[in-house]
Amino acid sequence: MSQRLVIAIDGPSASGKGTLARRLAAHFRLPHLDTGLLYRAVGWTSFRTGRMPAEVAAGLHPDDLEDPDLKGDDAGQQGSKVAAIPEVRANLLKFQQEFSSRGPGAVLDGRDIGTVICPDAPVKLFVTASPDARAERRYQELRARGLDTIKPRVLAEMAERDRRDSERAAAPLKAAPDAWLLDTSDMDADAAFAAALAFIERKGFRSAGP
Ligand code: C5P
Repeated sequence: MSQRLVIAIDGPSASGKGTLARRLAAHFRLPHLDTGLLYRAVGWTSFRTGRMPAEVAAGLHPDDLEDPDLKGDDAGQQGSKVAAIPEVRANLLKFQQEFSSRGPGAVLDGRDIGTVICPDAPVKLFVTASPDARAERRYQELRARGLDTIKPRVLAEMAERDRRDSERAAAPLKAAPDAWLLDTSDMDADAAFAAALAFIERKGFRSAGP
């Protein structure tokens, strides 16, 4: 099939969407954009420098996404706060849409990819998991990175971020009406990848690789 393959993946934090996005991108040899990193970079930079978030978003450079601190929960909270500001979202829109419209296609993951950024994507996935499964994953991930935390704190922070992301007026987290729902509560990364790949292949897309 020669149709461009844009895979839009949305879902809450620690649902497994990031791992799935990276694996699908590698399989189909497409560039991948973790759009959460954009919001984290804006939130974290404006928190540390006191600059206006919308101004930071307007001048964001790809190198700004390399800071390892962006992966932490503090940057996630700051990212979720600035993500509710319409000017920030507007200033990040062009970068994301240009990324998705180059070459043979792209994989983007975030909260509003299927609804706002790529509403015409031929493949839309909405990845979810129970709050407990997501908190357990996040907890293990933080521990593996050597960060000291306790599970009730991880669960509480996740609930706070979920609420802010779902209740905000600007592009709230929600599944596009034509998105395919994938609940990964009882799946490991391999099972989630196999299920998503089967869905995409049913739509007629195949990897060009050997
Ligand atoms: O996915 P991640 O946890 O890295 O996202 C950080 C924050 O950025 C989210 O809590 C959400 O508020 C925001 N975000 C967004 N739209 C996206 C991606 C992330 O609002 N497309």
